[in-house]
This record gives sequence, structure tokens and C-alpha cells, in this order.
Amino acid sequence: MPMTSKNKLLYNIVFFIFCGGLLVFLLNAPEETTKKLPEDEIHQKFQTIDRKEAEKSCEECHNPEGELPLPEGHPPKYRCIFCHKQVKK
Ligand code: HEC
Ligand code: HEC
Repeated sequence: MPMTSKNKLLYNIVFFIFCGGLLVFLLNAPEETTKKLPEDEIHQKFQTIDRKEAEKSCEECHNPEGELPLPEGHPPKYRCIFCHKQVKK
């Protein structure tokens, strides 16, 4: 069945309403809440160096037997600083 131009208009309107809704949804997304890399003595040296370089050291302390194990249910831990961002000055 060929689409009449009236139908096309209707599909376009539905499409635009959908896009508008999607935009509103994305703009309302919650702010980022994941903790940043702490600004204390322990972590200060990781604030400025290359992220990949820094990430090699995190698990020296943040491992199951370490000083501060990752909490239960922690998301996949690949690339720490991707989520726990460095505090940029
Ligand atoms: C020398 C041990 C050590 C290393 C290495 C280390 N941490 Fe930590 N980390 C700690 C300790 C102890 C705490 C808890 C006290 C604090 O906030 O400093 C902590 C706390 C944290 C917290 C939670 C802060 C909060 O507000 O609760 C995050 C996030 C974190 N570290 C991420 C990292 C990342 C990412 C790296 C690698 C770049 C890293 N740590 C390297 C010892 C370490
Ligand atoms: C995919 C994102 C992601 C990655 C990658 C990631 N984390 Fe987390 N991490 C979180 C979230 C979300 C929490 C929950 C608490 C919060 O808001 O910080 C958390 C919590 C933590 C905490 C506990 C903070 C507290 O309040 O006790 C530590 C320590 C931590 N992460 C360290 C690390 C380390 C070290 C790595 C790399 C080995 C890492 N994280 C990788 C998202 C991530």
C-alpha cells in the first residue's frame, strides 16, 4: 500500500514528538555523582599524571585484601579514572 502524503505528514509529526521527548529525557539525566579521585595525600600524585599510568597503581590498595577494597556491587572496574575523575584545576 503506497503511503499517502497525509500519512507521511502524520509519521513525521509522531517522529518529531518522539525526538522532543527523548531530548527532554536526556536533558533531565541526573548529574554525575560518582566520587572523584580524592584530593588527599594518598591520591594527590595521581591527580596530574597520565590516567593510564595512574590506574596501574590503584589496585595496590583497592583490592580485596588491601586497605580499602572496592565495595560490593562495584561496577566493572576496568579504567578507574574513567569514572573516578581527576579533579582538574
Ligand atoms: C596507597 C594506597 C592507595 C592507592 C595506591 C590508591 N588509593 Fe584510593 N584510597 C585509599 C584509601 C586509604 C582511601 C580511603 C581514605 C581516602 O579517601 O583517602 C581511598 C579512597 C578512595 C576513593 C573513595 C573516596 C571517598 O570519597 O570515599 C576512591 C574513589 C579512590 N580511593 C580511588 C582510587 C583510584 C582511582 C586510585 C588509582 C589512581 C587509588 N584510589 C589509589 C588508598 C589508596
Ligand atoms: C564504570 C565506572 C567505575 C569504574 C571503571 C570504577 N569505579 Fe569505583 N565506583 C563507581 C561507583 C558508581 C561507585 C559507587 C560509589 C560512588 O558514588 O563513588 C564506586 C565506588 C568506589 C569506591 C568506594 C568509595 C566509597 O565511598 O567507599 C572505591 C574505593 C572505588 N570505587 C575505587 C575504584 C578503583 C580503584 C577502580 C579501578 C580499579 C574503580 N573504582 C573503577 C564507579 C566506577
